Amino acid sequence: MPVRRAVCPGSFDPVTNGHLDIVGRAAKLFDEVVVAIGVNASKSRLFTPEERIAMLEETTAGIANVRVAGFEGLIVDFCREIDAVAIVKGLRGAGDYEYELPMAQMNSHLTDVETVFLPGAVGNAFVSSSLIKEVATLGGDVRGLVPDAVLEQLVRRLAERTA
Ligand code: PNS
Repeated sequence: MPVRRAVCPGSFDPVTNGHLDIVGRAAKLFDEVVVAIGVNASKSRLFTPEERIAMLEETTAGIANVRVAGFEGLIVDFCREIDAVAIVKGLRGAGDYEYELPMAQMNSHLTDVETVFLPGAVGNAFVSSSLIKEVATLGGDVRGLVPDAVLEQLVRRLAERTA
């Protein structure tokens, strides 16, 4: 039987508990899941590609059929390169759907790679990397919304930035 491989793409700057919920659930649906971290150099990020890859490797280490990779260029080209049949994305609400649907349709126009949408867990509906960074920057408590190891790195990075 061929391996049914899926990709969970994102910026993961940083990875949140919402992302990890989707990756863990995708790992139950597919033989292998590759977390694909967009490393497009033009965007300014809080964490480097290497740091984001390391954070994902650490936080998904307990899931045997998950691996982590960086990618540049089109996600569908990466999918073709690694022989993935699907892109898995989480939807927190209608706003995510509006944003994701044209991308899914474009990716479907470009290739036969399917997009599979999973509903985000209710408890993570408000969790995004950008809000986490904003709240943490302004001194808010984001414990429980990101893995503990990520929280430590986030606090350290923000302290370095304000020093
Ligand atoms: O976590 P994000 O920022 O929502 O992730 C966005 C990402 C990296 C998944 C998306 O921008 C992407 O797929 N980029 C790769 C470039 C690409 O394929 N663009 C065309 C999409 S139709």
